[in-house]
Amino acid sequence: MNKLADIREHYQKGNLNKDDLNNDPVVQFNNWLNEAIKAECNLPTAVTLATVDADLMPNCRIVLLKDVSDDGFVFFTNYESEKGQEMNHSPKAALNFFWPELERQVRIRGKIEKVSAQQSDDYFQSRPRESQLGAWASNQSSIVQKDDDLLSEYSKLEQHYKDQKIPRPKHWGGYLIKPVTIEFWQGRTNRMHDRFQYYLEKNEWKIRQLAP
Ligand SMILES: Cc1cc2nc3c(=O)[nH]c(=O)nc-3n(C[C@H](O)[C@H](O)[C@H](O)COP(=O)(O)O)c2cc1C
Repeated sequence: MNKLADIREHYQKGNLNKDDLNNDPVVQFNNWLNEAIKAECNLPTAVTLATVDADLMPNCRIVLLKDVSDDGFVFFTNYESEKGQEMNHSPKAALNFFWPELERQVRIRGKIEKVSAQQSDDYFQSRPRESQLGAWASNQSSIVQKDDDLLSEYSKLEQHYKDQKIPRPKHWGGYLIKPVTIEFWQGRTNRMHDRFQYYLEKNEWKIRQLAP
């Protein structure tokens, strides 16, 4: 195996100037997300979600971004999962998108709230039946005693809802992250990476450059 310390990246895919940035960070984010989709980045909407538990111990995991608007960034999950309990206790979170093919990272920090029941219902109904059943069958983040229990629960639910519309479980839905900072990072040669952070001042987005 390679010595990890000898693995070195050379970042040379592009650069980012303040003049290139849109004044609106959501427009800027959508531009970069569309470029990631166009460049066929693997799982372009996958994002690391960081939260803290009641002892302030950090935790993180990947979720999929399902909506972005002026209000913020939306993903869906089980409200009773570990992340759900953490956000219930401390309704703040950070997101980190990494598009290695473009040598880009976007970091978002913000406040968390649940999306409306209607938005969760609409998204739940747009999901494939298998995913809907999965949301019912899995007590996400709880301890599994026997693998078979999960599968038999799934089969039971499949029978129960045969030929019927599957309602959204009350413990499943969306969260909105309302951003307070959004940073765009572009890798550069000699580690002179470009970093621009949008921050809110009197409810207006401002941009500052950060040292790499
Ligand atoms: C590519 C990928 C996409 C994922 N998308 C989601 C998602 O949108 N929602 C979700 O609840 N979990 C998603 N997961 C699973 C989470 O990473 C995690 O295992 C699960 O939500 C339990 O996390 P928790 O115990 O911290 O609550 C995804 C995992 C991967 C690798």
